[in-house]
Amino acid sequence: MAPASSQFDAAIIGGGVIGCTIAWRLSQAGMRVVVIERGEIGQEASWAAGGMLAPLAEANRADAFLDLVIRSCAMYGDFARELREMTGIDIAYRTEGTLYLALSDADEEELEHRWQWQCEAGLNIKKLNADDVRNLEPAVTPTLRWALRFPDDHQVDNRQLMVAVAAAAKKASATFLLHTEAHDIVSSNSQVSAITTSQGTVQADTVIFAAGCWSDSLTINGTRVKNDFLVEPVRGQMIALEMPEPRMQHVIYSSNGYLVPRHGGYVIAGSTTEKVGYDKRVTASGIASIIDHAIEIAPNLAAQSVRETWAGLRPKTKDEWPILGTDPGIKGLIYATGHYRNGILLTPLTGQAISELVTRGESTVNLTPFNVARFDQDLRRSA
Ligand code: FAD
Ligand code: GLY
Repeated sequence: MAPASSQFDAAIIGGGVIGCTIAWRLSQAGMRVVVIERGEIGQEASWAAGGMLAPLAEANRADAFLDLVIRSCAMYGDFARELREMTGIDIAYRTEGTLYLALSDADEEELEHRWQWQCEAGLNIKKLNADDVRNLEPAVTPTLRWALRFPDDHQVDNRQLMVAVAAAAKKASATFLLHTEAHDIVSSNSQVSAITTSQGTVQADTVIFAAGCWSDSLTINGTRVKNDFLVEPVRGQMIALEMPEPRMQHVIYSSNGYLVPRHGGYVIAGSTTEKVGYDKRVTASGIASIIDHAIEIAPNLAAQSVRETWAGLRPKTKDEWPILGTDPGIKGLIYATGHYRNGILLTPLTGQAISELVTRGESTVNLTPFNVARFDQDLRRSA
């Protein structure tokens, strides 16, 4: 651990998947980088996630956000290979694809709409009848009417991903200050100069704000960042169940939940969407509803044992799009936060886009729709 008073080219607040990936990319570019993490590396949303790379299954319309997630998803094959070469860690990138089941009249209407607009947009989407689905996944409920298949919606093991990006950043010589809470981002003459932390002051010309849903834990020149301006926590509970035979291969969504089969003989079922502040408890009602929805998709899960339950906090912005790019008023302050439900999916692209912004002053990704300036600046900070 480096002394907190050291000088760095870039200081990253937050050691989740976003902060560590940016640290890796900037260190690869030859910068002296420090990650400031108040706990252990990668123990928050990045660890709690389901690992789905689902640009189409979770999309509601063709827009700049859809372009962003599709582009990031397409980067994953190379990203996984590069991480394996760099660290020896396999992030279990799986390409079987995703199924979305129609189980009711309302589902049929919703999926028919999705089918229409995604076909019109030229996206890779298939319609399968119930027999076709059961050939792929025999465990799916007999009440299935039909399903959509998204061949390009994939998955990774996000916990392995987290370990891998942190290892890659360390290997590329990034410094980690753990159990160190960032308090205040300091600028002078509208240029970032330092961060004060629980362990002292870190000097840096660039500060990257990658603190997930904890934006209100920080101040900028002594003024608190309003949580309702940047991000708010949205709890998601999860449960892992032992996987029955024959083993499920695809990520499977219904309108109520999802199942993510994992190597190692278990399936993750999720999730809840709860605005309960920073409360990360697993609750009886949360788990009961996830189990009901999991069994609705695959009735044979009812007899399976529970392996693990957990909960995490998704970082949600007002419009549910991430905040990526420079602060309009303070040079050297860059945001990479608010990835909400798609932070694992957006990891490769965020790492690339933010490192380009820092090292070249611009990114090959159009970040304008995701700039913090889209929000009302008067709401930004409270005294
Ligand atoms: P985090 O992982 O939360 O990391 C932020 C870090 O910043 C934390 O380690 C925290 O300790 C640190 N920090 C905060 N404040 C400070 C401070 N002041 N000083 C120092 N350190 C600080 N995404 C997908 O793409 N696919 C999925 O299938 C998926 N499923 C999900 C399921 C659930 C239940 C949840 C909760 C999320 C899911 N997500 C999914 C979303 C994804 O997990 C997040 O978008 C992503 O992990 C955000 O990464 P992050 O690094 O920004 O945040
Ligand atoms: N993307 C899945 C979730 O956030 O629950």
